[in-house]
Amino acid sequence: MQLQDYRREYIQGGLRRKGLNTNPIAQFETWLQQAIASGLSDPTAMTLATVDENGWPNQRIVLLKQVDEQGFVFFTNKQSIKGRAIANNPNVSLHFPWYPLERQVRVQGKATLLDEQEVARYFASRPKESQLAAWASEQSQVIPSRDHLLEKFTALQEQYVESDAPLPIFWGGYRVKPSCIEFWQGGEHRLHDRFQYTQSEVEHDWKIDRLAP
Ligand SMILES: Cc1cc2nc3c(=O)[nH]c(=O)nc-3n(C[C@H](O)[C@H](O)[C@H](O)COP(=O)(O)O)c2cc1C
Repeated sequence: MQLQDYRREYIQGGLRRKGLNTNPIAQFETWLQQAIASGLSDPTAMTLATVDENGWPNQRIVLLKQVDEQGFVFFTNKQSIKGRAIANNPNVSLHFPWYPLERQVRVQGKATLLDEQEVARYFASRPKESQLAAWASEQSQVIPSRDHLLEKFTALQEQYVESDAPLPIFWGGYRVKPSCIEFWQGGEHRLHDRFQYTQSEVEHDWKIDRLAP
């Protein structure tokens, strides 16, 4: 089959301005709950796009761990490729692809580091193996082999057999404070619905525009 023959209609229903919440975070929470309830896989997975010091964009998936008026939270290694990019340029973009619901959400905002207490709280809630894996992985560095990783992991398991793993200094979290959020709902004949919320000067006041599909 030719790639150009893959096509389908988007039929799940439209998005109308009168049905939108005036607050994009509340709107996002409604869509996230619907994505979870629909049973689609990895509803909290989001693509995180960053730009490095040479202006190159890069992207990868991370998991959303919290969302509220302050922004979208994820956890990672601060010395990874993404961590280094954000240290140089905090402007990032997030993308949620909820294909079975024929929806996507796109966010632009600034990422800031979470404070250590918040990170420590989340780190302590993770399974011990995940904590040790965070210690074992110099994320985004070149390593000689999988065995190298497993040896480090096994040594850590022995080291922390009777005690909790402490929070690594290189491990952390970011909160993306949104300045622009777009909700996309697929429509019949490619006449999709798009609504963009843009933060105005007054905090918590959002301008809503319909965009052409
Ligand atoms: C479903 C899924 C969830 C992921 N969640 C995370 C996450 O929450 N944090 C993280 O650091 N990496 C996560 N990863 C791995 C990242 O996509 C990426 O490989 C890693 O963070 C290194 O990225 P970087 O080299 O651009 O910094 C996830 C990958 C997938 C496919």
